[in-house]
Amino acid sequence: MKENFEKVSVLDNFYQTSFYFPMPVVLVTTLSENGTTNIGSYSLCFPFGIAGRHAMMLISRSDSNTAVNIRRSKFAALNFITSRKDYLANAVRLGYPGQTTEEKLKDSIFTLLPSMRDNKENEAKYPEIIKEAVEVMECTWEDDNSVFSYKESPDESHFLLNIDNIFMKESWQKALVQGNGRFPSLPIDYGYRDSKYFWFALHGRPYKEPIPSDKSIDVNTIIYQVQRMPYDLKWEDKAYEKLVKIPRIFLKRVLEAISKRALEEGVKIITPELLDEYNKKKR
Ligand SMILES: Cc1cc2nc3c(=O)[nH]c(=O)nc-3n(C[C@H](O)[C@H](O)[C@H](O)COP(=O)(O)O)c2cc1C
Repeated sequence: MKENFEKVSVLDNFYQTSFYFPMPVVLVTTLSENGTTNIGSYSLCFPFGIAGRHAMMLISRSDSNTAVNIRRSKFAALNFITSRKDYLANAVRLGYPGQTTEEKLKDSIFTLLPSMRDNKENEAKYPEIIKEAVEVMECTWEDDNSVFSYKESPDESHFLLNIDNIFMKESWQKALVQGNGRFPSLPIDYGYRDSKYFWFALHGRPYKEPIPSDKSIDVNTIIYQVQRMPYDLKWEDKAYEKLVKIPRIFLKRVLEAISKRALEEGVKIITPELLDEYNKKKR
């Protein structure tokens, strides 16, 4: 049956009033004025700087505990929980405006653990993280408004949060590095749609779709693959070009081997010269 498009009015909070927009569920922990950790539920939280600067964007009403705490203390941890119904019910409770941090902590079913940052002397300065989370980003607010600013509406605060650390539960960290096709079951939030309910969806089992085999390997394929590897290495543009002849099925393995060897040798930048050298002296 042929179905026509109908026009929908673009209302405030259009992502949940005028659209079906799948969002994550993030418990944001921040430090309150008296040093306790506040937990707030957020969904408008997305990757914003992806190459060079690694940063998330968090959108909050300006007077939330979370927004006030970030402006004062600069730190936030983004805790991603799985789609257990008790977790999501509690996230909705923790998403009720107007409660103090103390009131919320009494309501919370989550367990707080000290920050995983290295700088332990300053532990008290950082928000705690949520033990039940599968993965956590520890972030610092980028308050330099020459880097990012948005002044359109005083009721909304937009925080560019630089990612300092990512921590993940062991089994998921392994799954990530091995790329073994296992994924944590993270919920999808369709928002507060009818002044009554938050609507969540549980995600199904992810499946893989191969990239077209008639597309030959090019520099972008290599960059794409390198950016998905968990190594802190810089690649010079000319280095990528050196690898375009590698058959696609071996690419990941070769990139892994190069990266691991470079890290072992304390190398920080992958240059074409380095790749020539590795190619000469294959171990
Ligand atoms: C699942 C969920 C997602 C939410 N996402 C947002 C959001 O992205 N931005 C926002 O301002 N409020 C959001 N809210 C509402 C906040 O949780 C609410 O304002 C709460 O009071 C914030 O807590 P805080 O004051 O401790 O920061 C969400 C609520 C729920 C339950």
